Amino acid sequence: MNEANESANRNTRPVIEARRLTKVYDHHSPSSPAVNGLDLKVWAGEFVAIMGASGSGKSTLLYLIAGLATPTGGEVIIDGTPISSLPDAARACLRNTRMGFVFQRFNLLGFLSAKNNIEAPRLLGWKQQRQPRDVDDLLAAVGLEKKNLRRVNELSAGEQQRVAIARALINNPDILLADEPTGNLDSKNADAVLDLILRLKHDLGLTTLMVTHNPEVAMRADRVVEMKDGMILRELMPDRIASAEESILKRTGHLPQ
Ligand SMILES: Nc1ncnc2c1ncn2[C@@H]1O[C@H](COP(=O)(O)OP(=O)(O)O)[C@@H](O)[C@H]1O
Ligand SMILES: [Mg+2]
Repeated sequence: MNEANESANRNTRPVIEARRLTKVYDHHSPSSPAVNGLDLKVWAGEFVAIMGASGSGKSTLLYLIAGLATPTGGEVIIDGTPISSLPDAARACLRNTRMGFVFQRFNLLGFLSAKNNIEAPRLLGWKQQRQPRDVDDLLAAVGLEKKNLRRVNELSAGEQQRVAIARALINNPDILLADEPTGNLDSKNADAVLDLILRLKHDLGLTTLMVTHNPEVAMRADRVVEMKDGMILRELMPDRIASAEESILKRTGHLPQ
């Protein structure tokens, strides 16, 4: 994000805000929460990458933001509304209409076609607040229009992740949450999936929060947040990733893909 955008954004409210956000899982000692009093603001249209060692709380943070996990302290605020103040059905509706989720392991229904997988969230019967996207447009956007009737377990890993990205976007969300979306892909497919996410983010104006171990992915973000022990250790500008790469690798033990 350039400076002009940044100062304009600072005058509006963030799309996503975590305020003193804390999660202690049942078996955890209260002294070592999975997410520990974390503050984060993500502005409209921003692409924020989250890095950090395994177990540092990255996935828990995404689940809390999506309202899929309940915080034990603090708040997730979406467009100024604390989501804990919403009744369960309204929170679920917010998640299903405003947010798309992409996982490392795709989480597709392997015996269904690409097209049926993409349409599945629409069939869940959520009351639509926003006009859903057209499934054929999405298939074309992810380059799978000719494979629309293939069962997804007959598709390559890269193609399956493209189906998962289209599925995440069918309800026309404006927030994309992605948990290591390139983690199960070889470098060629990882590049293609990242290019696709960046293009869709740009074309659809998505606010994007992506967990990644890959410094090359993080380098293409607007901002990089590094987590440790459930807290934000530091924020890095992507152009500093190259010099910080060595120390990140030492901490996370992950090599660039
Ligand atoms: N569903 C869960 N139930 C209990 N503990 C969990 C659960 N998910 C994660 N944890 C624990 O919370 C901590 C943070 O995990 P996680 O958010 O998955 O980190 P990361 O995504 O950075 O690897 C770890 O100690 C992990 O074992
Ligand atoms: Mg994780």
